[in-house]
Amino acid sequence: MQFNLENNQQLLKSLGYFFEKFHQQLDTLPVASKQIHLPDIALSEHPRCLDELNQVIEAQLSEHVSGSNGPRYWGFVTGGANPVATYADWLVTTYNQNVSKGGDSIASSFERQAINWLLELFSLPKQFSGLFTTGATSANLLGALVARQFAGAQQGIDIAKQGMFALDVQVFSACPHASMIKSLGLAGFGQHTWQSIACLANSEAMDVDALSEALKNSRAKSKIVLASAATVTGTDYDDLMRISALCKAHNAWLHVDAAFGMFERLVSGPTGKTRGLELADSITLDCHKWLNVPYDCGVFLTRHHDVLKQTCHVGASYLVQSDEFDDYLSLGIENSRRFRAFPVWCTLFAYGQSGIREAVERNISQAKALAQWLDSSPYYDLLKPCELNVVVFAPSAKHPLSSSAECQKMINSSGEIFVTPGQWQGKATMRAAFSNWSTQMSDVERGVAVLERISQA
Ligand SMILES: Cc1ncc(COP(=O)(O)O)c(C=O)c1O
Repeated sequence: MQFNLENNQQLLKSLGYFFEKFHQQLDTLPVASKQIHLPDIALSEHPRCLDELNQVIEAQLSEHVSGSNGPRYWGFVTGGANPVATYADWLVTTYNQNVSKGGDSIASSFERQAINWLLELFSLPKQFSGLFTTGATSANLLGALVARQFAGAQQGIDIAKQGMFALDVQVFSACPHASMIKSLGLAGFGQHTWQSIACLANSEAMDVDALSEALKNSRAKSKIVLASAATVTGTDYDDLMRISALCKAHNAWLHVDAAFGMFERLVSGPTGKTRGLELADSITLDCHKWLNVPYDCGVFLTRHHDVLKQTCHVGASYLVQSDEFDDYLSLGIENSRRFRAFPVWCTLFAYGQSGIREAVERNISQAKALAQWLDSSPYYDLLKPCELNVVVFAPSAKHPLSSSAECQKMINSSGEIFVTPGQWQGKATMRAAFSNWSTQMSDVERGVAVLERISQA
């Protein structure tokens, strides 16, 4: 295969073939692939033809991908790629814009508009600005880095330039996502140095009285609070109104990981579980979760644009900067950046606010329907009332498989549904998370049939 434009028609034809094939097979292929090892394939010295490439894709890839893009993959918090975003992503690759600076392309304008639309969608004030990231992990990392810069400024240190050797800071959190802890390590705070604040009884939400005491007792010159909206297993929300008031009183930075929990705002508005989110200093959101755009796509938002700029500033004479807007290469981690804003822009444009809200509401109803069935079954324990899109459950004492891990293995080996493990109040559990736009109640019924069959074995 030579690099030339004449191949394009053939490539498009092949793309159409694999696209159709994948969507037809989603219903019958196991949701999680059983074959995950690619045999050694020799690197060729000479060009090969498209047919040879397609043969490998057909034999080694298309049959062995997981169904994570489909309606019955309930592991982690996994979104699918909605049809409009899929189409947009094809165009992203076609145009292949580098959204790092302004001046030569309209792409960064789309990014700004998509961020503004997200602020409108989630009823967040216009003081926030932000950018697209590779996911919630990199948004959490930016949260840690910008909080660090802010803490430095409180002590007369420009961390981006001088480093954090002289920084006196304490980090507080109750139930941070693993990616937040990873980010603390990457940002130089260390994964083990944050002060753990107790959770409320039977909840992963922060005990704010305990935070208040900890902040009062802290002798650190600067303080950072990492809050959750929502936690990944319990879908519990920290009380952001009270926490933000405490942060204000103690001049502490408040970062909120709202990777998927922000979508609750579409259902209950700004006075629901996320009340007070608008008072945070920085926020993480994930679009490849509940907005159902393709990987990878997260969002970092902050009301301190200048601090973000100080944190990420990059200067070189060959990197021409725009006078009109701050360039993205000086606002985020990467210099060169994919046009990942475009699938988000197209999703918001095409489905509108009500289309997105309805998809979220459907997933919440599906999760509640599964939870209701589990609660009524003698063979399963629903470990926590389902309040959002995650169902936390385990086999009961009557179930032939008393271990949650074994039960999960049996469920996933059915190929019909896929769930992932968790921990609830020290007990091993399974989690079923609903965040795919294409999931229907009939998929929940298929899942229930699997759970029933396994409990009768
Ligand atoms: C609350 C929360 N934060 C962060 C992450 C990490 O997201 P990503 O995989 O997009 O980096 C997740 C993923 O499940 C999450 O649920």
